Amino acid sequence: MKNLQQSENKKLQHLLSIKGLDKKIIEEIFNDADKFLEKKDIKLDDYTSLNGKTVCNLFFENSTRTQTTFEIAAKRLSANVINLDIATSSQSKGESILDLINNLIAMSVDIFVIRHSEPGIPELIAKNIKSNAHIINAGDGNREHPTQGLLDAFTIREFKKDFSNLKVAIVGDIEHSRVAKSEINVLSTLGTKEIRVIGPKALMPSNINNLNVNVFHTMEEGLKDVDVIMMLRIQKERMSNKTVPSESEYFKSFGLNQERLKIANNDALVLHPGPINRGVEIESEVADGKQSAILNQVKYGIAIRMAVMVMMIHKK
Ligand code: CP
Repeated sequence: MKNLQQSENKKLQHLLSIKGLDKKIIEEIFNDADKFLEKKDIKLDDYTSLNGKTVCNLFFENSTRTQTTFEIAAKRLSANVINLDIATSSQSKGESILDLINNLIAMSVDIFVIRHSEPGIPELIAKNIKSNAHIINAGDGNREHPTQGLLDAFTIREFKKDFSNLKVAIVGDIEHSRVAKSEINVLSTLGTKEIRVIGPKALMPSNINNLNVNVFHTMEEGLKDVDVIMMLRIQKERMSNKTVPSESEYFKSFGLNQERLKIANNDALVLHPGPINRGVEIESEVADGKQSAILNQVKYGIAIRMAVMVMMIHKK
């Protein structure tokens, strides 16, 4: 995976997974995102750095935040943006995904942003394309969502600075969450003191004990002394064999309310990748409260996605 993502001189050819991504690359993305966010040390040229390039959003699964922020990020860098509507594309006539990609490459697409319900599709495309086009995984099934992991870690860095002192709890449906996997990978690479996962046994992946995290099955135990709480929704669309938990029962056991928030450290940061389900995994008073940085995550996502695309195109 590392060779597929990073060229020999260590720069980013594709972004498929956080796993195997150098800490140095992550820090460079964060530093560039800082510039775009603070508009400091930024040259006019930076905003035209994707001039003449074409970014194509290929979302085979629904999205609000990821697709829109990639579009805004690409436009802020002066790129042309195509949002291909999969429902009305020739996919419905039996065209394979690789033929679709090769046709778009013939139209000179430089960066593909791909979301798919099947794990491994962005990697399959990266392995098979016959051009220098770049592939960004915008979420593949329950596997990874690397730019979400990066923007979440960037948000934590904005508020908490040093990962080596932090205890971070990821709460909810870990098994079906691609965000949780990218989150665990990025926090591990950045040297986070302790990563906890909290959730029902039925929603933990079978390899959870190999992921270098501490596992808790109650909020009361898991939230004690934590600095950051990352809430996840129940990913019903990826549940096939297991019974979907009752929403009210789930909230009683694993919902984040104001009372439970008090178990964590006083200044604990509350995050959620969205979309949030109010009253299921989080109550409104917490989602909209002063410890919540949920909308900061969305805003920082634009800067992170700008930094990733600039690194791919220019830092070779
Ligand atoms: N966080 C996230 O991936 O949101 P969307 O599904 O709206 O893109």
